[in-house]
Amino acid sequence: MAHALEELIAGGVKGKHVLVRSDLNVPLDGTTVTDDGRVKASLPVLKKLTDAGARVLVMAHLGRPKGQVDPKYSIEPAARRLDELADFPVHVASDVIGPDAREKSQQLEDGQALVLENVRFDPRETSKDDQERASFAQELASLTGENGAYVDDAFGAVHRKHASVYDIARLLPSYMGDLVSTELEVLSTVIDNPKRPFVVVMGGSKVSDKLAVIENLIGKADALLIGGGMSYTFSAAQGHRVGRSLLEKDQIDTVTQYLERAQAEGTEIVLPTDAVWASEFSAEARHEVRPIDALEDGEIGSDGQGLDVGPETQKLFARYIRQAQTVFWNGPVGVFEMKAFSEGTRAVATAVAESDAFSVIGGGDSASAVRNLGFSDDQFGHISTGGGASLEYIEGKTLPGLEALGA
Ligand code: 3PG
Repeated sequence: MAHALEELIAGGVKGKHVLVRSDLNVPLDGTTVTDDGRVKASLPVLKKLTDAGARVLVMAHLGRPKGQVDPKYSIEPAARRLDELADFPVHVASDVIGPDAREKSQQLEDGQALVLENVRFDPRETSKDDQERASFAQELASLTGENGAYVDDAFGAVHRKHASVYDIARLLPSYMGDLVSTELEVLSTVIDNPKRPFVVVMGGSKVSDKLAVIENLIGKADALLIGGGMSYTFSAAQGHRVGRSLLEKDQIDTVTQYLERAQAEGTEIVLPTDAVWASEFSAEARHEVRPIDALEDGEIGSDGQGLDVGPETQKLFARYIRQAQTVFWNGPVGVFEMKAFSEGTRAVATAVAESDAFSVIGGGDSASAVRNLGFSDDQFGHISTGGGASLEYIEGKTLPGLEALGA
């Protein structure tokens, strides 16, 4: 049983250094944070600790810098955004575990936070070698001095066996942050005990990334609406031509089995009936709406590639979503970053926002999509901060970060 943050606070944290793993992995445009959802979600735990007088050391990653110091992946923009939103002082270290981090950590006062530089600048963070990770975790733990503690509040990273997520929990008294516990509560309710009808919308580009999730949802969801690049492998499995759309030929057999299994186990798999076919993968591409089974009859012809679901599919998906009591949505159903191919994702977001169902948006791209399309967080039941983490949870995998906390 994992220890809750409340236990740590009840035991008194004033003057103690507490290492908190947060997920501040936000999208950036240069040094501008384009979606601060994860920063906002990380605030409450940091505030609870600083309000209680802790000296908080925040560990976080940004992107995948592959163990190299690379200014492009500096945590600074995310840390600055945290500072703007926080009502406690937020300092930033210019290294992860170097002289600046050590000095600023020692100078930290009660009720203040220090964000360490991107933990992935140190190759030991993500190393496959247990000893390398352990040595990094040891150095991080040493920043806390005598009576330190560790709080894992980075739900988005609990599926990673990394030093700041996994190994550190073996070195310090460890606690589960509120963000992690809330995410687990919501996801477990949705997956194990949903109000029905339970409708899942799955999008994203690669079907191979989502196979295990789809497999685990068959028999659990009442309807599985599939859009995005991954839907073309399903369409191909049903004998449709998909032109130059994303297609994973080696997954057609598996997908065919899923279609059969779903039918046997009472999960309706709903596929697009039309698409926005484009002449090329570009925001300026010529494009036209055609049914899935009539791609080659159009002007663009059989060289076209589907970049969004068409209006018929949007209506079809919206009908299922309107009837649902629970909706889980992961992955955009089109290339929403390009205006011409964003309508499908907008239509799904609108239907989810307007439905009375309890809705959960699985993090990563879908969370950024709804925010970038102008929706606000309170239009949905819950926006998960975890992309890969929420999917692996739904797959039923053991998540190293949770295992380390004894959860
Ligand atoms: C995410 O963006 O899903 C998390 O921050 C984890 O990032 P990662 O996939 O690079 O480990």
